[in-house]
Amino acid sequence: MSQLLDKIDKEHLPRHIAIIMDGNGRWAKEHGQDRLFGHVHGVESVRNIVEGCAELGIGYLTLYAFSTENWDRPEYEVVGLMELLVNTIRDEAETLHKNNIKLHVIGDMSMLPEYARNELKEALEITKDNTGLNLIMALSYSGRWELLNAVKNIAYEVKKGKLEIENIDQDTLQQYLCTSGFPDPELMIRTSGEYRISNFLLYQLAYAELYFTNVRWPDFRKENLYEAIIDFQNRERRFGKISEQIV
Ligand code: IPE
Ligand code: IPE
Ligand code: MG
Repeated sequence: MSQLLDKIDKEHLPRHIAIIMDGNGRWAKEHGQDRLFGHVHGVESVRNIVEGCAELGIGYLTLYAFSTENWDRPEYEVVGLMELLVNTIRDEAETLHKNNIKLHVIGDMSMLPEYARNELKEALEITKDNTGLNLIMALSYSGRWELLNAVKNIAYEVKKGKLEIENIDQDTLQQYLCTSGFPDPELMIRTSGEYRISNFLLYQLAYAELYFTNVRWPDFRKENLYEAIIDFQNRERRFGKISEQIV
């Protein structure tokens, strides 16, 4: 593990890593257990990866914990997941604070039950002045929901006469996304062997490097994160230019 860590160029870390934490259900099935058992074990991976990112000095970590579409799962799973998410955030708030981690949430909070919103509010409050890792939990989030929301709010401002259509540019749009103030993810990791975005950060991932691994989320640990970062550091990011133009 330390050998992997040594291979990471600490001067060229991705500023923002985004992760689709997938495969809890399959992991549970493979262990002959109920899907919720997989989600419970996924929490240990979250702890481990948050710690790993904080140790490395990563600026932003976004974790896709629950999508807008996940509300359509069987009720017992939705209820179980909500409880797990809220309990975890409550139990971890102090630890996050001790580690100077600032919590953020992105997503449609109006969809969450009130007790969940209250717990979240408290955790956000506790960590609000921290200056270390920014931990962004995507909860009841989807990229299309976010874009639709942004378009509506921009239209509203235009209607009120607070914004001129001619002045709408990419910066304006950025400001109306849930991620305003965060840099775009440079590395996006998806676990458990699925090669898709599943409505995650559709706008922000425009130039992210995508990394897919077969490892199921409950098995994902720091060394898997290090492998992804090393892979990222071996890529040439061209942003539409040609190799010779890249310094
Ligand atoms: C990811 O694991 C967690 C959530 C989507 C909430 P899944 O629950 O999607 O697990 P698989 O993909 O069915 O294995
Ligand atoms: C994406 O995983 C959402 C989260 C990890 C929270 P899903 O398991 O819901 O995505 P699909 O259904 O396989 O595309
Ligand atoms: Mg899945």
